[in-house]
Amino acid sequence: MAILRAVLAVTMLSMVLLSVLWRATFDLGDQEDLGDQETFLQCLVDDSHPSYPISSAIYIPQFSSYSSVLESYIRNLRFNETWTPKPFLILTALHQSHIQAAIVCARKHDLQIKIRSGGHDYEGLSYVSSVPFFLLDMFNLRSIDVDIGNETAWVQTGATLGELFYRIAEKSKIHGFPAGVCPTVGVGGHLSGAGYGNMMRKYGLSADNIIDALLIDANGRLLDRKSMGEDLFWAIRGGGGASFGVILAYKIKLVRVPEKVTVFKVGKTLEENATDIVDQWQHVANKLPEELFIRLALDVVNSSSQSNGEKTVRASFISLFLGDSESLLYIMNERFPKLGLSKSDCIEASWLQSVLFWAEIPIETEINILLDRSPQTLVFLKRKSDYVKEPIPKPGLERIWKRMIELEVPRMLFNPYGGKMAEIPTTEIPFPHRAGNLWKIQYITNWNESGIEAANHYIDLIRKLYDYMTPFVSKNPRRAYLNYRDLDLGASYNGKGLYSERRDYGVKYFNGNFDRLVKIKTEVDPSNFFRNEQSIPIFPYQDSRK
Ligand SMILES: Cc1cc2nc3c(=O)[nH]c(=O)nc-3n(C[C@H](O)[C@H](O)[C@H](O)COP(=O)(O)OP(=O)(O)OC[C@H]3O[C@@H](n4cnc5c(N)ncnc54)[C@H](O)[C@@H]3O)c2cc1C
Ligand SMILES: *[C@@H]1O[C@H](CO)[C@@H](O)[C@H](O)[C@H]1NC(C)=O
Ligand SMILES: *[C@@H]1O[C@H](CO)[C@@H](O)[C@H](O)[C@H]1NC(C)=O
Ligand SMILES: *[C@@H]1O[C@H](CO)[C@@H](O)[C@H](O)[C@H]1NC(C)=O
Ligand SMILES: *[C@@H]1O[C@H](CO)[C@@H](O)[C@H](O)[C@H]1NC(C)=O
Ligand SMILES: *[C@@H]1O[C@H](CO)[C@@H](O)[C@H](O)[C@H]1NC(C)=O
Repeated sequence: MAILRAVLAVTMLSMVLLSVLWRATFDLGDQEDLGDQETFLQCLVDDSHPSYPISSAIYIPQFSSYSSVLESYIRNLRFNETWTPKPFLILTALHQSHIQAAIVCARKHDLQIKIRSGGHDYEGLSYVSSVPFFLLDMFNLRSIDVDIGNETAWVQTGATLGELFYRIAEKSKIHGFPAGVCPTVGVGGHLSGAGYGNMMRKYGLSADNIIDALLIDANGRLLDRKSMGEDLFWAIRGGGGASFGVILAYKIKLVRVPEKVTVFKVGKTLEENATDIVDQWQHVANKLPEELFIRLALDVVNSSSQSNGEKTVRASFISLFLGDSESLLYIMNERFPKLGLSKSDCIEASWLQSVLFWAEIPIETEINILLDRSPQTLVFLKRKSDYVKEPIPKPGLERIWKRMIELEVPRMLFNPYGGKMAEIPTTEIPFPHRAGNLWKIQYITNWNESGIEAANHYIDLIRKLYDYMTPFVSKNPRRAYLNYRDLDLGASYNGKGLYSERRDYGVKYFNGNFDRLVKIKTEVDPSNFFRNEQSIPIFPYQDSRK
């Protein structure tokens, strides 16, 4: 390892040796010009700033540490298989100049880049590709600069949400940021793809609270909000970063949280009147005060502890209230009495502790666990999403329970909208699912067995539940959330991706905002350098040039 590292450090003197390595490594097929591949590495070394040597940020498959670097941010074991396509090179950028060199050299040599921040993409699009590619890994670029006086923060995209929450709370007990509930999610993918969490009814999405950004474009230029212009700045707040450039950092607006918040989690099975309670939830959850967020989780469990194999559905209500338990109980008794919430169900905590609660980490745990960048567990997984516009009639709920029990494995989370989410215009940022959407469904299937057979089995189950839900969810288009990446919605695997193949998923994710994203994409990246299986395409008339 050290020897290989040394070889790389003196690349310019050792090009002969290196090229032997290189040939062995980058056997990308007969059609590839190996000479070109060699010069990519040479180009990286030549193009980067001498004060920030790039060699120590480069990993190729011959290095013993290559696999651990690659695996350390794989968050879906479905893409940790021996047959998963691997990058021919990983660049763990230490400085913006490394990113600039990577872009300029990759364009020169027509190579595919994949950008990874936290690695939580459900389809692994940040570190897997159907065409040969290299990986730009952002984990070293994760500084967080909190300015409480101005209620803002600059956060580099390699940071995790847990680190961001921790750094804010370190400086103020009355500030927070509305973002996802899983602390290991990366800022880069999350904020560029919208980002929601349990404060969205009060403060909107993460992307609704972005006020500036630093981005490196397809020409290797470092731009901020002013120099990139309002169109591109609009696109990278929900349109997905990977279609437009490498986002280095976001400046965010912090939000106010009370010193004391209240959380609860209460589960009811069908035998405990779950259907009636879910029915009431459907009618109130999106109309409650903005300070109150009640997620509904639905899963299949044994009917009783001494089980004879009988299954039932359990509805769990998981909540964050930005206030004390007394006010919460008052609201619940008035608006959602069927749940029968009692004082003993309520836990009062700091906002940062509520982050632990929602992450299913015991609330007494030392708070610096939020700085831990690896998740508690890793599984094989598939996710899908939907939007619901009308409450589901009770007979419909009963049919859904029956189908869930038949399928057993797939779970659903219902995340209520309303409040601030319904007030923000649909065109404010690319994320289009605002007023009229009562809640979002997340479909969840996890499994523990490797292999294609297991994957096919479990993916088939989640698709069946999704199909069954068709009559109850949005139509024309059937909407989806970009950050719940789902290649079933359509994808392009040929590495180019023409407009005609991409309109389908584009409209599901972005509805009426898709065309504006395409227009911006065509302006800022006409050569379509920043692309992946589900990126924003350039306008159709550009296709004919290919
Ligand atoms: C356990 C878990 C919990 C989750 N919980 C929530 C939740 O509560 N709320 C929610 O909204 N979502 C949630 N998500 C989804 C999550 O928001 C998305 O997967 C998000 O895109 C992850 O960001 P990342 O940086 O970790 O992912 P990555 O896989 O690194 O990136 C995702 C996408 O963004 C691109 N990208 C990443 N960084 C950059 C960059 N710096 N510049 C340009 N493009 C970039 C990648 O190329 C890829 O296309 C969850 C996901 C998981 C796995
Ligand atoms: C990922 O795959 C590698 C190689 O097979 C294996 O060593 C590693 O344990 C896997 N990671 C996890 C978390 O299962
Ligand atoms: C706000 O930010 C500016 C510029 O960084 C700084 O000069 C000023 O002191 C800050 N204001 C407060 C109230 O902290
Ligand atoms: C279910 O509802 C019925 C009718 O309202 C009520 O009598 C019964 O006690 C409830 N069961 C439970 C377990 O709450
Ligand atoms: C559910 O019941 C099955 C038997 O039907 C048993 O094997 C399993 O352990 C039970 N699960 C739980 C969580 O009790
Ligand atoms: C996978 O295994 C882990 C650890 O043994 C366990 O906690 C989890 O419940 C399992 N998940 C599934 C979906 O079986």
